Amino acid sequence: MSRGEPPPGISIIVHGGAWNIPDEAVEAHLQGVRAAVLAGWAVLTAGGTALDAVEAAIRLLEDDPTFDAGRGSFLNAAGEIELDASLMDGTTFRVGAVAAVQNIRHPITLARLVLERSEHVLLAGSGAARFAREHGLEPCRPEDLLVGRELDRWRELQARPDFSTPQAFRVVPSTSLPERPGDTVGAVALDRHGTIVAGTSTGGTPKKMPGRVGDSPLIGAGTYADSAVGGVSCTGWGESIIKVVLAKTVVDRLEARPGDPKGAAAAGIDRLARKVQGLGGVIVLDRQGVPAFAYNTPRMARAFLHAGLAAPICGI
Ligand code: GLY
Repeated sequence: MSRGEPPPGISIIVHGGAWNIPDEAVEAHLQGVRAAVLAGWAVLTAGGTALDAVEAAIRLLEDDPTFDAGRGSFLNAAGEIELDASLMDGTTFRVGAVAAVQNIRHPITLARLVLERSEHVLLAGSGAARFAREHGLEPCRPEDLLVGRELDRWRELQARPDFSTPQAFRVVPSTSLPERPGDTVGAVALDRHGTIVAGTSTGGTPKKMPGRVGDSPLIGAGTYADSAVGGVSCTGWGESIIKVVLAKTVVDRLEARPGDPKGAAAAGIDRLARKVQGLGGVIVLDRQGVPAFAYNTPRMARAFLHAGLAAPICGI
């Protein structure tokens, strides 16, 4: 290994949602996932942990209004933003998750606080907000998370009682406001200590019922990591992803057939479609740091980078 070259094995993959991403939003998605993977990579190459790398990548995606996570999230049916996020350390099996939290700029950081400073796995709603305050995470204002595009969408959807989230994953609508049902973000990283961490953050689905929780904060559904096997973050229609426990399903397939993360990702999406007519995508890293992904939506924004690559490989 020459000087300055990253140590072998470190690797990171991120996603910025699997859905019907319109042509005019492609460039912003590519730029967003590229910046996020580079942020995580900078942590890994400096000797940082996979936990730090995943948090850094996801925080960037939460700040980017392109995505349905943090700033830029969908409004629920009541016109509020409720956020879900989770993190799992595949070596210690420590997990932290938050569900239906409001006024939190970086739900992934709150999930990390749950992982590191609570005896619990998942905190929801007002209890999660109180925990955030107690640990120095000051609430943001609702307008810090709200973007005009989503306010316009919410207003339009008020006039559409027929709006259906699963249909919106498939259909290219004729409306000037594209459907954006799956811009969840996620990351999986392998650090120099061999630890795999997976994380996911989302604003959920547009016009969701207040209190609705999707797959993203549910360990095994939206996120899973086992450093002896691999890590997974999911995106897509949460109600279907939960029913097949998609992230753990993919890790189990990888454990049964080591060395085939691509096959595991494809098998997970096949099961999602076959069993529950589900729609979505997964990103995977196996224990060697080999990345893979699969999706059955028209597009999925993703990027990965590992030792031996000169630059991130991004796609949509
Ligand atoms: N996959 C994100 C959600 O359904 O909430």
